[in-house]
Amino acid sequence: MRRKLAAGNWKMNGTNASLTELQTLIATHPAPQIDILICPPATLIVQAAGLSADSPLQIGAQDCHSAASGAHTGDLSAPMLADAGATAVLLGHSERRQGHNESNGLVADKVSAAHAARLIAILCLGESLAQREAAQTLDVIADQLRQSLPDTATATNTVIAYEPIWAIGTGLTPSTAQIAEVHAFLRAQLGDRFGRDAAMGFRLLYGGSVKPGNAADIFAIANVDGALVGGASLTAHDFSPIITALENAV
Ligand code: 13P
Repeated sequence: MRRKLAAGNWKMNGTNASLTELQTLIATHPAPQIDILICPPATLIVQAAGLSADSPLQIGAQDCHSAASGAHTGDLSAPMLADAGATAVLLGHSERRQGHNESNGLVADKVSAAHAARLIAILCLGESLAQREAAQTLDVIADQLRQSLPDTATATNTVIAYEPIWAIGTGLTPSTAQIAEVHAFLRAQLGDRFGRDAAMGFRLLYGGSVKPGNAADIFAIANVDGALVGGASLTAHDFSPIITALENAV
């Protein structure tokens, strides 16, 4: 059985004052039936990991460098993030691919670096609106998966998050059939590469405008093992019902 995962990506939001949201989440979900992960900005990882240390809440990072250390001003390495208390790291998010010109090859190196530091790599991929309208979605997904997922990936150290770019922060979500198609395709692609049994263990998240109001419908889709949530993860008020919806999903 794949353990479901509700992951929050705070992006470039959050200061010390936001840590009360984590305290509320911990108090509201003391013994969740699923994994819960929040990826705050790197400035808050140490404090977030500290306050969640005796709780089931896990803390992750939003990016890492591909090297373990060195002359890379302003960057953070996977071992540093693990040392700060992170247990996972988002990699290949479309905002990194687009805003920082991250290629599939670079993302693959970062995933390898995360694995070497014993962090769970949450590999993000997804098509643009133009690609979907040109019926290229599955080709784009296949390319991203093949090129940005290194051979070190296992169901334990890697999670895949399908995030169509046009659904991120827009309030738009794909249809149930569209999400089901991509997730089934991801499962099949993982099967071709790692073998069917291994592929069945990988957790596949959907991300892009997941809200309390649509979470239950999304979690009912086959091969959706959880969500990667942006805006609605910023407050316990919005994220808590998403957690509950995932716990209630079968
Ligand atoms: P939103 O939930 O705000 O659409 O963001 C999704 C996302 O990019 C999570 O990584």
